[in-house]
Amino acid sequence: MPATSAPRAGLLRFVTCGSVDDGKSTLIGRLLCDAGLIPGDELARLRPRAQQSGSHEIDYAWLLDGLQAEREQHITIDVAYRYFSTDRRRFIVADAPGHEQYTRNMATGASASDAAVVLVDAREGLLVQTLRHSHIASLFGIRHMVLAVNKMDLVDYAEDRFRETAGAYRAAVERLGFASIDCIPVSALHGHNLARTTDAMPWYEGPALLQCLEALPVSSTIASSAFRFPVQWVNRPHAGFRGYCGTVASGKIRPGDEVVISPSGDVNRVSSIVTMDGEQELAVAGDAVTLLLDEERDVSRGNVIGSADSPPEVSDQFRATLLWMDAEPMLPGRAYEMKIGTQSTIASISDLRYVLDVSLFERKAAKVLELNGIGVCNLALSQAVAYDSRQADGAAGSRYILIDRYSKRTVGAGAIDYGLSRALNLAPQNLQVDKSARAGLKNQKPCVLWFTGLSGAGKSTIADLTEKKLHTLGLHTHVLDGDNVRAGLGRDLGFTDADRVENIRRISEVAGLFVEAGLIVLVAVISPFRSEREMARSVVDEQEFLEIFVDTPVSVCESRDPKGLYRKARRGELSNFTGIDSPYEPPEEPELRIDTTEVSAEEAADQVVRLLRARGSV
Ligand code: ADX
Repeated sequence: MPATSAPRAGLLRFVTCGSVDDGKSTLIGRLLCDAGLIPGDELARLRPRAQQSGSHEIDYAWLLDGLQAEREQHITIDVAYRYFSTDRRRFIVADAPGHEQYTRNMATGASASDAAVVLVDAREGLLVQTLRHSHIASLFGIRHMVLAVNKMDLVDYAEDRFRETAGAYRAAVERLGFASIDCIPVSALHGHNLARTTDAMPWYEGPALLQCLEALPVSSTIASSAFRFPVQWVNRPHAGFRGYCGTVASGKIRPGDEVVISPSGDVNRVSSIVTMDGEQELAVAGDAVTLLLDEERDVSRGNVIGSADSPPEVSDQFRATLLWMDAEPMLPGRAYEMKIGTQSTIASISDLRYVLDVSLFERKAAKVLELNGIGVCNLALSQAVAYDSRQADGAAGSRYILIDRYSKRTVGAGAIDYGLSRALNLAPQNLQVDKSARAGLKNQKPCVLWFTGLSGAGKSTIADLTEKKLHTLGLHTHVLDGDNVRAGLGRDLGFTDADRVENIRRISEVAGLFVEAGLIVLVAVISPFRSEREMARSVVDEQEFLEIFVDTPVSVCESRDPKGLYRKARRGELSNFTGIDSPYEPPEEPELRIDTTEVSAEEAADQVVRLLRARGSV
């Protein structure tokens, strides 16, 4: 994101979007040029290139070439920002590359914009992408849409063609509830209706693109809405000073104002506002400041300081809209890192309610969300956070991003629609007999022995033998075996990635309950994904989870083929079979690795018992 100052009256941030060949760069280049905003020497620089080109004319897209080149070398982030101003207004334009794969860029640009200019080619009219981009714009709270119907020169400036496209667009996005939709016929190549209206299309009576952008009524919504200050860090240079640093996300604040700290709900008062230049009497949206509070309370990074009149809400479960931006699909139940404001937490999609078919505006049932998919889901967080719901006027609720915990890629982004209060109405009951009391009676330390590996690797056999040995030692155990559990608890689940994630989620929770009961739990499931095994680990205390990798190569499993499933899979009678046409991610640092081509099942079980002894569990 660019280092912007507060959105003062007059500043318009907009994002341009369209498909690759819609002429986005030409449009922006020409617009800047015709508005007299490109210095003469920059234009002169392009003349020699024009001489060499067939047409001997300047291609205005070249003006943005510098950015393009940087982008190709991955020097800058994918979204390029340009700053310019006219007599009437200052602008920041975010140029998001239009390739189908780049909704990520569009989302990044949109999340910092007030308006979007969507380009379509007059010859082609609306594309699925046009609608997808409009959806994303709405998702990220953009209130003003401008449809630029470009290349009008190539359709002989036909009024019908324009009206048809404009009409179809208005009808298509009506339900997205934008505050304004302007449609403008343009020719970026010839400069018609960009910086000024020309007589190429006398039938068009509206403003040129630049005039339209100058006149958009960007209400200072972030300035006038309730005060929100996500705490970035706590500055405590010495015991006598405690300041909360961050950037005002919305509204304004003065010393003496009453505030609420979320999620704790503590009421406090701002005693002073400090900046590099000393104390100040007012801070508004966009200002980076340090707030001092009247009373010393526990406030930490990620907390939100909000106005006491309308504090943010607090929940750990949400209905939210989600744009998926990763090639690997979103899997309900998988744990992702979530960033909301300055808060970082773990979240999983507990329910994918539906995905949007953006071209038909239809809701479709789905189990996973694919690249570029937009869905509505329930999110379950590992802790309660402060948030704002989607507003009645269509303004987006609190935005968030989801990050893959292994690759660290940003995989999803979206906005909160509203909080689900069900979790907040649950109060954990403190039980008088607890885990240690239960385990104490059994004279043992409870834990999870998690056997992972391919089908036929020997997990169940080794788990069975291990349990027998532990049982003989007088220990209290229980086995959760994949095939057995799937007959009951997982009866509704198959073998898609999504179903396996859910299978492991359920088994981890049950294993956690057995640990609470004071038992040593042996789990024998393929559990092919690292992410879910980590989730299983996080259900119990740190020392209570032992990952045992039953490491048998697929060729060996296949030659054993105890259940005849490899043969079926090879014959194509069984799909999504682990190791054949479904992935297995081996553990990186298991507590124990058993090579079943080297040791017998008996010896393997002894190794597990030795591991438990070494850890003091036996
Ligand atoms: S997991 O992937 O969700 O962890 P789980 O361990 O519960 O799998 O179940 C695996 C067992 O289901 C295998 O041992 C095998 O008997 C049976 N099975 C049936 N179809 C498949 C399949 N497509 N892939 C793997 N195992 C399968």
